[in-house]
Amino acid sequence: STVTWSAEQTGKSGYDHYMLKEIHEQPTALRQGLSGRLDELSGRVTVEELDDVGTPETVHFVACGTSYHAALYGVELFREAGIPAQAFIASEYATGPAPVPENGLVIGVTQSGETADTLAALREAAGRGAETLALTNVVGSTVARECDHVMYIRSGPEIGVAASKTFSSQLTSLNLLVESLAGGATGDSRELVSALRDLPGDIQQVLDETTAEAVVDEYLGDDAFFFIGRGQNFPVALEGALKFKEITYEHAEGFAAGELKHGPLALVTARTPVFAVVTGNDERARKTIGNVKEVEARDAPVVAVTDGQSDVERYADHVLSIPETHPRTAPMLANVQLQLVSYHMADRLGRSIDKPRNLAKSVTVE
Ligand code: G6P
Repeated sequence: STVTWSAEQTGKSGYDHYMLKEIHEQPTALRQGLSGRLDELSGRVTVEELDDVGTPETVHFVACGTSYHAALYGVELFREAGIPAQAFIASEYATGPAPVPENGLVIGVTQSGETADTLAALREAAGRGAETLALTNVVGSTVARECDHVMYIRSGPEIGVAASKTFSSQLTSLNLLVESLAGGATGDSRELVSALRDLPGDIQQVLDETTAEAVVDEYLGDDAFFFIGRGQNFPVALEGALKFKEITYEHAEGFAAGELKHGPLALVTARTPVFAVVTGNDERARKTIGNVKEVEARDAPVVAVTDGQSDVERYADHVLSIPETHPRTAPMLANVQLQLVSYHMADRLGRSIDKPRNLAKSVTVE
């Protein structure tokens, strides 16, 4: 018999890197995460693990890295549901007197369930009497054992050090979590449930139709890469920049679109491409387009990641398109385009994509 594939290649199912494989696994990962949790007839969400969790008065999120960006997205969801929420970088949570909320719920978002900073913050919160909930991927992880409650994102194992599919699974699970704890408060549960059902297919469409690889070629060798977004697209901008710096080793920063003029604009030149995430056509989109015009006036190349509902394309050098969907799922589709941007840039530069220098998948020291 002839063995033509090494175990390494077999694990990657023919993809050049685990990260690319995991990016392509997202439709499956999200289907697993949604399975049995959506009821289309009633437009309701049920997460069995959360049956014994009441509606919290306030919510604090603690998390690190990519999981912190997911937490920022979760904050917006709770606020839309009328529940005050805040996200903390876990290593900052217990630096002073811990701001643990009375009658509040402290949610640790951690893919691995082993991040030391996140565990320390949760222990601090529990020690001060807060109820704790873990949102994690790993069954039997430390966080799952220590918290009062646990919800699994069911993404499947992730080998690439830079989180990709697990971030999408976290955002999906946060929608389920908020619907389940504060359900129906925003009045459009049915629309959300159907958008979540369509999400795996929409992501597949992005994967099939993306032009990210061609866009990246235009900007090889540029000085720095900026990512901007507003509202629910702000965490996506932060995550886009984090992914980019992690695997390309190029300088990348994510900014709240409105904050550009308060400093970062000084860095903007013809050699600093700006990736602008603009979805929908509301006030937020219009304001972000205003910010896009500001960078365009400084000759910066603009790549719009958009669902085509606004006229941002008029001000962009390139467009990365996503299908039209619910305002809560649009950021997830935009994120997939940005994952592909980072991946292809890192690949062009010959970087060690699955194991970037100096980084670890799970950081177990504070
Ligand atoms: C490390 C990884 C990041 C990850 C962070 C938090 O720094 O390199 O990709 O986002 O830890 O990990 P967690 O397992 O807590 O989500």
